[in-house]
Amino acid sequence: MSLFPTTKILPAEDIIGRDVFIRDVTRRTLEHQSVMIPGPRRIGKTAVATEVLRRCREDHGALTASVDLFLQSTPEEFAKNLIAEVLASQDSRVPTLVQESLAALSRWLQGSESELVVRVLNSVEFRWLSRMDRLTGEELVEHALALPQTLADRMHRPVVILLDEFQDVTDVGGTALIKRMRAIWQRQSATAYLFIGSQGSMMRSLFGQSAQALYRFADVLQLPDIPDDAWAPYIVRKFASQNITLDPAVVRELLRHAGGHPYDTMKMCQALYDIARDHNRTHIDANIAWLAQERTTNELAAVFQSELRGWEGTPYARQILMRLARNQTVYPPGVNSGQAKKAVDALMANGVIQRIGHGRYAFYEPMFQRYLMGQA
Ligand SMILES: Nc1ncnc2c1ncn2[C@@H]1O[C@H](COP(=O)(O)OP(=O)(O)O)[C@@H](O)[C@H]1O
Ligand SMILES: [Mg+2]
Repeated sequence: MSLFPTTKILPAEDIIGRDVFIRDVTRRTLEHQSVMIPGPRRIGKTAVATEVLRRCREDHGALTASVDLFLQSTPEEFAKNLIAEVLASQDSRVPTLVQESLAALSRWLQGSESELVVRVLNSVEFRWLSRMDRLTGEELVEHALALPQTLADRMHRPVVILLDEFQDVTDVGGTALIKRMRAIWQRQSATAYLFIGSQGSMMRSLFGQSAQALYRFADVLQLPDIPDDAWAPYIVRKFASQNITLDPAVVRELLRHAGGHPYDTMKMCQALYDIARDHNRTHIDANIAWLAQERTTNELAAVFQSELRGWEGTPYARQILMRLARNQTVYPPGVNSGQAKKAVDALMANGVIQRIGHGRYAFYEPMFQRYLMGQA
């Protein structure tokens, strides 16, 4: 594993500056309060939510499951995955929770068995959803949405469900699916749902009239920025564990360059480490730091390209980003100002830029700005 991991599930000791936040979300979910964490990509939403689930499970005996909406294409597929994940709920105290039922589950989901018997801990047993083959898609979805509470009741445990990339719910099942979630979930008493997703699209899909209640159903919490004085000791400690020291100025410059952006900062730290190791250095100075900046910029180019491609369908978005990157005024001369304003609003809603004064905007991710500056 990398010294500075950029994996989807971040080890707890590498989650910097979010402990108070994680504790807060854990407390709410254990009190059966659902939470929504919107925010731009690569800022640590999944890492935080996964850690909340781990704590709920390992420290508080909750049953936990997660479903990534990005990977589902229909409500029925979502339902089946939710069922499979909930029944497979990891439990540190009882790792074999429903192990032997999982094979039966998969036969049942494939329709080759019409009745599912869930055996929990070899003692609790319940027959669930007999005659799967006679269920309509809608009924399947309703049963799936009801399952977390059923399991909580039978097991006398809280159940916490993570729904990642939740903005994609609109593609999976649209308003109808959101409505059904709301109707079923708001009656549940021993469950909590963690909605994670990209800001702008999530707000758009959830501000629809019928979805208002789902929005109110969850506490909306913003991930806090990670302050430099949380990053610096972590970076120094990590390098020290490999017997490498750093000029304090290098750390300061690194944090300035990456703007403390979680993913970009970790990438830059890893580049520093790779270069130091390749050159057998035990001390990192400004020269190595400069090489690391170059390397990270190249590595991130692919990420930023795809980010830009994502804006192709929004008139003027690219042009506006280019202007802002070069510190020009936001609105391109001679364009439809209504449409240009729409693009600016979308860029803000998605956390790409933020307004810092009248007509003035700053990039949320300094390395993205630098990437754009380097584009013709
Ligand atoms: N609190 C954190 N401390 C250190 N690095 C972080 C933190 N949060 C995120 N990262 C870095 O960013 C990467 C992406 O985080 P992730 O949780 O997948 O973001 P998101 O779900 O918001 O897209 C992580 O693998 C890690 O390298
Ligand atoms: Mg994520």
